[in-house]
Amino acid sequence: MATLKINGEQKTFDAADDTPLLWVLRDVLGMTGTKFGCGIAQCGACTVHLDGKAVRSCVLPVGAVKDRAITTIEGVGDSTAGAKVQKAWLDLEVIQCGYCQSGQIMSAAALLAATPKPDDADIDAAMAGNICRCGTYVRIRAAIKRAASEG
Ligand code: FES
Ligand code: FES
Repeated sequence: MATLKINGEQKTFDAADDTPLLWVLRDVLGMTGTKFGCGIAQCGACTVHLDGKAVRSCVLPVGAVKDRAITTIEGVGDSTAGAKVQKAWLDLEVIQCGYCQSGQIMSAAALLAATPKPDDADIDAAMAGNICRCGTYVRIRAAIKRAASEG
């Protein structure tokens, strides 16, 4: 058995150490807000926070996580930056099909937590690994700036 701290709660489950965190979240724990896209760290759909930093859960073995804090899209709204990002996403109606958006929000929330007033270069660097097939990039950038301007 293994235990992970996810969104402030201890979760115990049975999985081999080399199982990707994304598999544990979705298939073992039923936390399906985090999405599977490519499985090879190329699309960002599976982004979660590990100790506040955005990481790709599809290539992160659960055995490497140990006692570090995981935050997923189900819990990111409990943080100040996450709540601002989610509000801005709704206010500016960022989402189209929605598939990439959990990952987009997680990357944006990690950016704002570390850099509360990001410039365009900061946004480019933080969001470059998150692909959106619907092309919502202009609204994503506007929503990050909206969130950064609040409070
Ligand atoms: S599913 Fe992890 S980066 Fe694409
Ligand atoms: S909103 Fe459809 S892939 Fe991004």
